[in-house]
Amino acid sequence: MKRVVVLSGAGISAESGLQTFRGTDGLWEGYRLEDVATPQAWAANPALVLDFYNQRRRAVRAAEPNAAHRALVELEQAYDVQIITQNVDDLHERAGSTSVLHLHGQIRQARSTRNASLITDLGDRDIQLGDHCPLGSQWRPHIVWFGEMVPAMEEAVEILADADVLLVIGTSLQVYPAASLAFEAPRRARRIAINPDAPREVQRADFEVVAATATIGVPEVVRTLLKAVANHDCTRCTH
Ligand code: OAD
Repeated sequence: MKRVVVLSGAGISAESGLQTFRGTDGLWEGYRLEDVATPQAWAANPALVLDFYNQRRRAVRAAEPNAAHRALVELEQAYDVQIITQNVDDLHERAGSTSVLHLHGQIRQARSTRNASLITDLGDRDIQLGDHCPLGSQWRPHIVWFGEMVPAMEEAVEILADADVLLVIGTSLQVYPAASLAFEAPRRARRIAINPDAPREVQRADFEVVAATATIGVPEVVRTLLKAVANHDCTRCTH
């Protein structure tokens, strides 16, 4: 079975009602990321940080997977589909995708401030100041903040090494090291970017660009990939 690796970003969840980060309606227009998404922010004003992520968790609870998330599940009928996501929502999982690696953490989880490997499922619950882990320290959102390591990078690079097709969906590729993954697939891999406003780096780097929103572009690309398997169309190098 050929492997499709997906690198997804906030754009894939935009049509589920979740705000992206950049752009005129983006979250970083309403907040300074330095105030809510850094270890320094947490040290200076943990209540503000918790409030920001409690709001994000409520938005995720109200959101449903869309046609793009669902199409990637269909793709599993004929491909080994490995999703690497920058998103902290769980819409890929709720759609039914079986392999999802979260680079930037998960909003529905909390992490101990004393021991980073101590993680708990929150479900839809808020985190409040004074909510302590079993070690007696404050729970924090299980989110990778700016300036912190991205522990899942090594696994992501390994997954990409075996990619036959790379789909880069709904990401501005502004945040490293995650963005570097768009350029890590082997030479032979077919590369497709799905984004109504694809980043310039992708246009320079031998990608086919589908300039459509995720709910239109992803099902379209998935149909093509499934058809290629059905037709054994080796000229497109997908199967
Ligand atoms: P951005 O907000 O930076 O970029 C969103 C991308 O989605 C842009 O390229 C848009 O053109 C595209 N887009 C918007 N609507 C779309 C739609 N309906 N269909 C498809 N694409 C659409 O989000 P990310 O690239 O995911 O990190 O941001 C990367 C990281 O920066 C995030 O994980 C987060 C953020 O700060 C942390 O918080 C650590």
